[in-house]
Amino acid sequence: MIKLSYTRDMNILGIETSCDETALSIINTKEKDNIEVLSNLVISQIATHAHYGGVFPALAKREHAKNIVPLLTQALKEAHMYEVGEHSFDEAVCHEILGKDQELKDTLIPFLKSIKKPKLDMIAVTEGPGLAPALWVGVNCARVLSYVWDIDILPVNHMEGHISSILLKENYMNEKEALLDLGSFTFPMIALLISGGHTQLILVNNWMEYEIIGETLDDAVGEAFDKVGRMLGMEYPGGPKVSQAAQQGKLREDIIFPRPMLHSQDFRFSFSGLKTAVRYFIQDKETHSEQDIADIARAFEEAVTEVLVHKTRSAIITHGAQGLIVAGGVSANTYIQKALRRMVEEFDLPLYLPEKKLCGDNSLMISTTAALHSFVTEKCKTVRYDNIQAQANLRLGH
Ligand code: KG4
Ligand code: ZN
Repeated sequence: MIKLSYTRDMNILGIETSCDETALSIINTKEKDNIEVLSNLVISQIATHAHYGGVFPALAKREHAKNIVPLLTQALKEAHMYEVGEHSFDEAVCHEILGKDQELKDTLIPFLKSIKKPKLDMIAVTEGPGLAPALWVGVNCARVLSYVWDIDILPVNHMEGHISSILLKENYMNEKEALLDLGSFTFPMIALLISGGHTQLILVNNWMEYEIIGETLDDAVGEAFDKVGRMLGMEYPGGPKVSQAAQQGKLREDIIFPRPMLHSQDFRFSFSGLKTAVRYFIQDKETHSEQDIADIARAFEEAVTEVLVHKTRSAIITHGAQGLIVAGGVSANTYIQKALRRMVEEFDLPLYLPEKKLCGDNSLMISTTAALHSFVTEKCKTVRYDNIQAQANLRLGH
């Protein structure tokens, strides 16, 4: 049931629930390959998961289900698409789609019966990769909306979403044309995607043409940051806290951690050995002063950065890249940003980073990806509500 989609002047609803942020956005696509952001909302579950020291999938699913209807209500209001009025549809189909998800059944179905069909033309939803129970909430919500409002769905890859996040201008909420000029990019580019779940180098041959050229064999960078944070007594997610501590740290000769796979002559990464080296170092002494903690954080960040810069540099050289995209939660790290900026300056190449608020998971990157697909017309393949499922291990380029 795949069909090619329309291209211009559409209202797109974006839904993202792959991990621990419930996010909804509504955008309008413009005549000239651009968008206006009508609403962009995120509810973070960080506080809920902090007690567990990481994301707990069953809890993430429950929180997503709880957050979706309030977010949808607010997003429709902000986009001036909220209109109270009776709407009838076959509830049995919705019950079938939602299966055992009682929370969504109890909130979503009555809500949809009470509002008129909004002026939406497409629903873009993250189909993967991510935590399966979390992804299913977004996907099933999209399926119900698609059925009830008779709108098609565009399944979006979360990692492509991170890549698209660099397209948003600095003042994206207040711009009539929120996207950078799509024609201003020269291909091929290299994308370094660094998040809590992924560390990948991608060859971007064009928009929508991606090839994974290297990735981590074990831990993702964000995961390593979070684990080191935990070892240093910091609350989940430790990434930003490790990075903050590192700013006060000094490089010391007695704290040097390994640079895993630095000379492997390929684009693969490995961070679990580095994490273990940090653990052994910490365990060696009973207590550590605040300065020690800052110095450990600094040494860890230094090791990670050196590996990221080295591998990204060789990917740029090998593939003759004309620009570097860095995205994903860890792209918010200013030390890593600066090191990568220095590196691309050697080659006189542009560096594209998302705005700070869009480094972490959000749904504007998902709706923006849908818009991008609609601009590259032939490839915008939407599906019906009965033809999409969550894909926890989805990979770019497949
Ligand atoms: O992309 P993201 O929001 O979620 C995933 O798709 O995984 O990335 C979250 C990750 C977490 O591991 C978090 O600790 C890390 O990004 N992170 C950072 C920083 N800000 C967020 N890691 C290092 N330095 C930061 N400033
Ligand atoms: Zn992400």
